[in-house]
Amino acid sequence: MYLTREEEKMYSGEYGPAVEKSMEILVALGDIYGADGMVEIVSAQISGVSYKTVGDVGLEYLEDLAGEGAQVVVPSTLNPAGVDLDQWKELGFPAEFTKKQLLIVEAYRKMGISTTCTCTPYLVGNVPPLGSHIAWSESSAVCYGNSVLGARTNREGGPGALSAAICGRTPNYGYHLDEGRVPHLLVEVETSLNGADYGALGYLVGKAVGNGIPYFKLVDEQQKKPQVNQLKALGAALASSGAVALFHMENTTPESPEAMPYTKNLEKLTVTREDVDDTRGKLSTSQKPDLVCLGCPHASLEEIKEVALKLDGKKLANQLWVCTSISVKAASDRMGYTRIIEEAGGHVVCDTCMVVAPIEYMGFKVIGVDSAKAANYVPSMCGLDVVFDEWENLIAIKK
Ligand code: F3S
Repeated sequence: MYLTREEEKMYSGEYGPAVEKSMEILVALGDIYGADGMVEIVSAQISGVSYKTVGDVGLEYLEDLAGEGAQVVVPSTLNPAGVDLDQWKELGFPAEFTKKQLLIVEAYRKMGISTTCTCTPYLVGNVPPLGSHIAWSESSAVCYGNSVLGARTNREGGPGALSAAICGRTPNYGYHLDEGRVPHLLVEVETSLNGADYGALGYLVGKAVGNGIPYFKLVDEQQKKPQVNQLKALGAALASSGAVALFHMENTTPESPEAMPYTKNLEKLTVTREDVDDTRGKLSTSQKPDLVCLGCPHASLEEIKEVALKLDGKKLANQLWVCTSISVKAASDRMGYTRIIEEAGGHVVCDTCMVVAPIEYMGFKVIGVDSAKAANYVPSMCGLDVVFDEWENLIAIKK
């Protein structure tokens, strides 16, 4: 692949071993995927943070890289870690696990990466503009960044995103190219959608389209335009049951498939109320949750507010985590939402989530979720049962 003179200097080690190693990874990826060259990026979002997923090998790799003086050159944020970095003791996270987790986050911090630890970077200021090139790796964030923001990223692995952040470049292929953004399947949604329906829709369409690009048309005239929280739930589910990195939605997302070549005569999938209900039913493996975990993807301030309003003056009969970033929690603290949730017996948990935290070692058996992505991953990644439903139905209030 073609490298500029500057990129050749990076590749040949003129900027030190960390940049050299990172450029080698990018060139290898570019060769595998047939990239013609590199594109400069404006933002990175890096996965490979939880000790549960990267283990000691990952910790060693990151400490070596930080020790070699690696520094990111574009605004970069981290994916969720395995613990709440501040409240881990109060919440009962295992001490040994936490010790390793803190070392991982410290290695990233040394490289200049913001330790906000969230899968919703677009809610904490990492918001690339339409048409910009980025290197993001959390699959739900990739889907949101490509689709709703109209930025351009492939589904990067952790090392690929980190290398891109260090070099300020990523190989130019796939979703960075106009031809990589053309839809493959027209999805006509005939029913109105509410709450957890968006996740169920994403789950069923993700299964149908695989790693293709769906183009949604909401044909029910009563259907309200989906908002940020619904689009993030839809994208997360699409990216987990399939490998979707981009969707288009008529009158909602910024790129117009109608103007793209090859969009005529698309294969069509019609989604009815029955399809959505059927999918919702299949996502549960049990009935009564002992821990309700909301915030997959990480909760927005608006979502936390809704929970706080519901719990005001009440006491919970089951345990509750509302997972979010430290930045959104700070706003929730100031608004008084965190206090209301805590007084009811719940927690606003930062930096982590029900999938990448070691919840299987914390005494929980059945997890209640309103996210189709979480319902998909909790059984496979934590070995626990799940109940998928609206969050209002999952939380139990003491009489
Ligand atoms: Fe985020 Fe964890 Fe869900 S990383 S998208 S809250 S599985």
